[in-house]
Amino acid sequence: MQTLSQSPLDPDFVQNPYPFYDRVRQGGPFVQWPEYGFRVTARAAIVGAALRDRRLGREAPPEQAVDIPKHLEPFYAIERHSMLELEAPTHTRLRKLVTKAFTPRRIAGMQDEITALCHRLIDDLPEDGCDLLEHFAKPLPVIVIARLLGVPESDADKLLAWSNAMVQMYQARRDISLEEDAAQASADFAAYLGDLIETRRKAPGEDLISELIAVEEEGTHLTRDELVSTVILLLNAGHEATVHQIGNSVKTLIEQTVAPHWLEPARIDGTIEELLRFDPPLHLFTRWLYEDMEFQGQVLRKGERIGLLLAGANRDPSAWDDASVFDPSRPVRTNFGFGAGAHFCIGAPLARLELKLALPMLMERLQGLDLPRRPYYADLYHFHGLEKLQVTYTKR
Ligand code: HEM
Repeated sequence: MQTLSQSPLDPDFVQNPYPFYDRVRQGGPFVQWPEYGFRVTARAAIVGAALRDRRLGREAPPEQAVDIPKHLEPFYAIERHSMLELEAPTHTRLRKLVTKAFTPRRIAGMQDEITALCHRLIDDLPEDGCDLLEHFAKPLPVIVIARLLGVPESDADKLLAWSNAMVQMYQARRDISLEEDAAQASADFAAYLGDLIETRRKAPGEDLISELIAVEEEGTHLTRDELVSTVILLLNAGHEATVHQIGNSVKTLIEQTVAPHWLEPARIDGTIEELLRFDPPLHLFTRWLYEDMEFQGQVLRKGERIGLLLAGANRDPSAWDDASVFDPSRPVRTNFGFGAGAHFCIGAPLARLELKLALPMLMERLQGLDLPRRPYYADLYHFHGLEKLQVTYTKR
């Protein structure tokens, strides 16, 4: 097995990790990535098979359990009940309960509200140019998810600050002060939601939190801890990735001079799938092996952890013709932007709806949308998203 060294903090890599993914894919079914200390794959067939096989999972096997440092306890108190970090049977139970509340009907019901919100954000943009990440991509998803959950919009800044502090825990570069901030944010967030859940328990509304309290599956409900973790997961997963997918998508649409007809209703779904394939914000997810297994002749051992390069698999030439080329005319086919299998993104329909409403409106109302300078990706490998998205336009 080949070893390929690559610092995830190397500025060239952060700006363009795809040449490394190509080398990984050409290097074999798996190559060792020493900076992470595990094997990774960028082959679509293996990534797809591994995501769909329940002999692998996100939850660490008991023999790999590590002692949680005391200062991180509030963070792990939430992670412990998060469906994203669990496997069957608890994952199955939680996911079924959440799916009952987070229905396609509820998401489709957000369409008019999201449309109005996009218009309002565009109305409020400076006249001829701005950082679109700050003024549009950041506020949109957090307000949408806050409204869906029934969290007061006036608390959106507080939620953003907690969420940002918590997701720093997934960074390649992390120090004690980041960890302490994440733990404090976790404690504050949990206390805030604990109160909100009690209020909704006493006086249920039409919101998703009230629905999550009420849903039942085979006689079980979400416990209080599970409710807090689920709402935090929906808030965190529900906005960071969407912010960066909007940013990356606008950058691609401008850089690739995508013609307006690719954003028309008949074609928009295919264009969005291609944007998710071409430049997704989440690149690397890991899985533990619960049994010995073989992939394309390479044996993996029980107890081992492997890395799945979703963004690398999205550009595998054996799965997509001219894989490194952005082509919205491709037949619509799901890629790995939202993962696959048991942990496939629960929020994909909501994220797709936000993109479907926001992108055509931005291109339509911000005439001549352009990049006065090249946008840079932020130096955080856990989110392949832009630092800023400075654009110029004439507003309509
Ligand atoms: C899971 C991507 C938006 C909630 C995932 C996974 C990916 C992903 C790749 C799978 C992780 C794995 O297999 O290990 C994205 C992207 C988004 C987005 C690219 C935006 C464009 C959202 C939204 C929500 C959401 C809007 C909720 C409102 C979740 C949840 C899971 C998840 C709860 C965990 C599902 C489970 O463990 O069963 N997402 N996501 N995501 N996502 Fe998303």
